[in-house]
Amino acid sequence: MDSTFIAIIILKLIYLLFDNIQPIHTLENGLAKTPPMGWLSWERFKCQINCHHYDDTNHNNNKLAGCISENLFTQIADTLVERGYQRAGYDRINIDDCWSKKSRELDDGHLLPDPDRFPNGIKYLADYMHERGLKLGMYQNYGHRTCMGYPGILGHLEQDVQTFADWDVDMIKLDACFSPKTSQLDSGYMKFRKIVDKTKRPMIISCSWPYYQVFASKVHIIPKWDLISMNCNLFRVFHDITSNWKVIQKIIDFMGDNQQIFRAITGPGSWPDPDMLMIGNAGLSVAQAESQMAIWCILPAPLFMSNDPRVMEPEFEKILLNSDAISINQDVNGEPGERFFHNTTMDLWRRSLSENQMALVILNRDFNQDLQISIPLEQIESNAFQHYQHVQVLNIFSNEKYQIRRQRMADNRTETYIKVIVEPTGCVFLKLTPLKN
Ligand SMILES: *[C@@H]1O[C@H](CO)[C@@H](O)[C@H](O)[C@H]1NC(C)=O
Ligand SMILES: *[C@@H]1O[C@H](CO)[C@@H](O)[C@H](O)[C@H]1NC(C)=O
Repeated sequence: MDSTFIAIIILKLIYLLFDNIQPIHTLENGLAKTPPMGWLSWERFKCQINCHHYDDTNHNNNKLAGCISENLFTQIADTLVERGYQRAGYDRINIDDCWSKKSRELDDGHLLPDPDRFPNGIKYLADYMHERGLKLGMYQNYGHRTCMGYPGILGHLEQDVQTFADWDVDMIKLDACFSPKTSQLDSGYMKFRKIVDKTKRPMIISCSWPYYQVFASKVHIIPKWDLISMNCNLFRVFHDITSNWKVIQKIIDFMGDNQQIFRAITGPGSWPDPDMLMIGNAGLSVAQAESQMAIWCILPAPLFMSNDPRVMEPEFEKILLNSDAISINQDVNGEPGERFFHNTTMDLWRRSLSENQMALVILNRDFNQDLQISIPLEQIESNAFQHYQHVQVLNIFSNEKYQIRRQRMADNRTETYIKVIVEPTGCVFLKLTPLKN
C-alpha cells in the first residue's frame, strides 16, 4: 500500500478519535458553572413605565402592581431574601427592557436610567443587591433601538459595556430586536463577548443570538451553535414564553425535538435557555407549574422566574423552593438531560447526575386523561446503575420515598418497574439513587 494512503488513513483515525472525545464547547469565563438562577422582570412587568397606574404599594388588590423602577427591584430583592429564594439559589435580579432614558446624553452619548423611576441610579441598585447576597443583571439590545424603542447598543458597544461594568453589574442580557442583519449577529455577539472580557468584571453573558437567526427575521440562517455556546453563558433558542401551558408545551417539544443540537452544547458555562419560569402567575395550574419546574431542572435550563414573589400563593412558592428539584438543576456534572420517549400522550426525560444518581420526568401531555404507566428500570438507567440491586426512588413533588429491588426472571434477565399515575398536563419527577447492597 502506498504510504501516503496509509498516512491518510491514520490521520482519519486520529481525527475520528478526537472527534469522539471532543469536549463540548462552552464559554469559559468562569461563570455559570451551573445554570444561573434568579428573577427577571420581563414577562410579568413588561414595559410598565407608568408608575402611577401600576402603583406597587397596592399589590394586594392589583396583582399586576409594579412598574419598571427602583422600587420594584428593591421590593423583589427584599422578598427573595425574606421568603428564602436567595438561600435556595435564586440570587440574581435582572432588569429587562425599558429602564433607560429615551435618549442618550447629548454630550458624551452615555446611557442613563430614567431619573423618575430610578432616582438613585443603577450603581445604587447593584450595591443594594450585593449587600443582600444578590446580583444585578442589566438589559441591552444589539440594534439601534431596543425591542421597546429605547436606545440600543449599536455605535456604543464599548461605552455601554464599560458603563455596566462601572455600575458593578453582574450579568448582561443582549437582545437583538431590529438588528441590522442576522448574519452580522455572529460577529456582533463575538465582539460583545470580547469587550465584556476586557472590562475584567465577571458578568454573565445572556444572548438572544440564535433565536433571531432561526425565528425573528425574514432571512433565516442556521446558527453556528459552537460559536454561540463558546461566547454566551446562556442563549435564548425559542419564542418568548407566556403563562400558558400550551405555549410551555411547545417550548418543551422544541427542546426535545432539537435535543441532538442542544445536548452537545449544554454544560458548565453554557446553557440553552428556553426562557423564564412562569410558576406563580395566573394561567398555570399547580400540575403545570410542577411540569415546567421538572423539565427546566432536567434539561437543565437557567431558572429565572418572572412572577411576583410578593403575592405568591404558597403551593407555587413550594414548587419554586423545592430543594430536591433545584439540586437536580444545579447538579455539578452539568450533564444534559435527554428525552428518550415521546409521543402525543407522554414524554419521558432522564438525566445522569453526580454519584451515579439519575433524574426521571414522566410528563403527561394529555389535557384530560390520567396517565398510568409502568416503566422498566432497565430502560432508563445508565450502565453505572445496573450493578445495584436496590434503588431508592424519591418523588420530588410529593416527597414520598421508597425502595425498589431488582427482580430476576427465570432466564436471568432482570425486570423492575417504576409504576406511576400522572395527572393531565402534570408530571412525576423522580430522583433515583442506587443503594449499596
Ligand atoms: C404513547 O406511548 C405509550 C407507551 O408506549 C402508549 O401507552 C400510548 O398509547 C401511546 N400514545 C399514543 C397516542 O399512541
Ligand atoms: C445471572 O446474572 C448475574 C448478574 O449479572 C450473574 O452474576 C449470574 O452469574 C447469572 N446467572 C446465570 C445462571 O447466568
